Amino acid sequence: MTATPTARPAPSGESTARAASAPFLLDRHLTEADRTAALAADVRAGLCSVPKELPPKWFYDGAGSRLFDEITRLPEYYPTRRERTILRARAGEIAALTGAETLIELGSGTSEKTRLLLDALAARGSLCSIVPFDVDDTVLAAAGAELAREYPGVVVHGVVGDFQQHVGLLPAGGRRLIVFLGGTIGNLRAPERHHLLAALRTGAGPDDALLLGTDLVKDPCRLVAAYDDAAGVTAAFNRNVLAVINRELDGNLDAEAFHHVAIWDPDEEWIEMRLRSSLEQRARLGALDLEVTFERGEQLRTEISAKFRREGVEAELAGAGWRMAHWWPDPTGDFAVSLSLPASSLPASSLPVSSVPAASPSAAPPAG
Ligand code: SAH
Ligand code: TRP
Repeated sequence: MTATPTARPAPSGESTARAASAPFLLDRHLTEADRTAALAADVRAGLCSVPKELPPKWFYDGAGSRLFDEITRLPEYYPTRRERTILRARAGEIAALTGAETLIELGSGTSEKTRLLLDALAARGSLCSIVPFDVDDTVLAAAGAELAREYPGVVVHGVVGDFQQHVGLLPAGGRRLIVFLGGTIGNLRAPERHHLLAALRTGAGPDDALLLGTDLVKDPCRLVAAYDDAAGVTAAFNRNVLAVINRELDGNLDAEAFHHVAIWDPDEEWIEMRLRSSLEQRARLGALDLEVTFERGEQLRTEISAKFRREGVEAELAGAGWRMAHWWPDPTGDFAVSLSLPASSLPASSLPVSSVPAASPSAAPPAG
């Protein structure tokens, strides 16, 4: 019983480590101790609230990142394949439009699709450095070492951090392309999305650009299937948050007694993931000196995954000081990638592009 929210460890300094196999830098804005303290605070608040709720970043430890990687290959989970199709078609254009020297990737995970962009930038000769940024240090260490091997001569500078807190600490310099793929922005609520987009805009130089992947509103049956696959991988991923809590906070939640639930909320236009307790249970979280009870059938909300429309994405970007210059949906219209540039004026002032209809002359024509 050591870590409590009141006895927070000192904030992390910026430490730089060199991996054994391939030379790459790793900054930690989030140490193990910070992580545990933040988890403790979130769990205490979330499991004592009604309804119970947890922020989604806690899915991702080593096991969670491996499960997510498995999700990306499931037949029901279309977003990864659709986004890859778009990136394959547009990488050359994106490289030419941005001339980026540094590619910064938020929530980078394995950076698998990102190779399409990196290859295009490397082929143009502009690529100097890669900054993968993720909350899970295990996936980041593996991906960073891989990238360093695959792109010799390019500086790989991994950052362990929380993109809801630490984007102000991203390395500066060069023409930067910030990429945020996988529809992960949809895991944030609208005010959190605004906060992140505005923070990125504040740190952006005039030649920087933002590449954003957004999953689009579609038939709810396909959406639900994507978040409740037949093989049960998503269910295991959802339950992994309980394993993280048990391990890091000395808990005894019975993960097997929770059932995975994915529902479409037509008003919010988001998928909501929950864990439903199949029995009445009482669990102890030793590190918090806390006992939590679940009624039979009680649900714990673990994640939202918002789905978007072009007008909404464009308006959110504009509200944070970004001008959407290109909107590239995939041929099926399931998913879209957009490229935005800093608007000439910062948010709060009047912005040239807000909710512009699809055929606006100020935006690029949609993909053919
Ligand atoms: N970009 C990859 C992975 C998407 S899964 C893809 O498109 O397939 C979401 C990723 O974001 C995970 O790797 C997770 O660890 C990371 N992540 C989630 N919340 C985060 C946060 N608050 N800060 C930083 N990374 C986060
Ligand atoms: N960014 C992914 C998405 O919203 C994350 C994700 C995919 C996810 N499947 C999930 C999160 C299942 C929780 C549960 O599509």
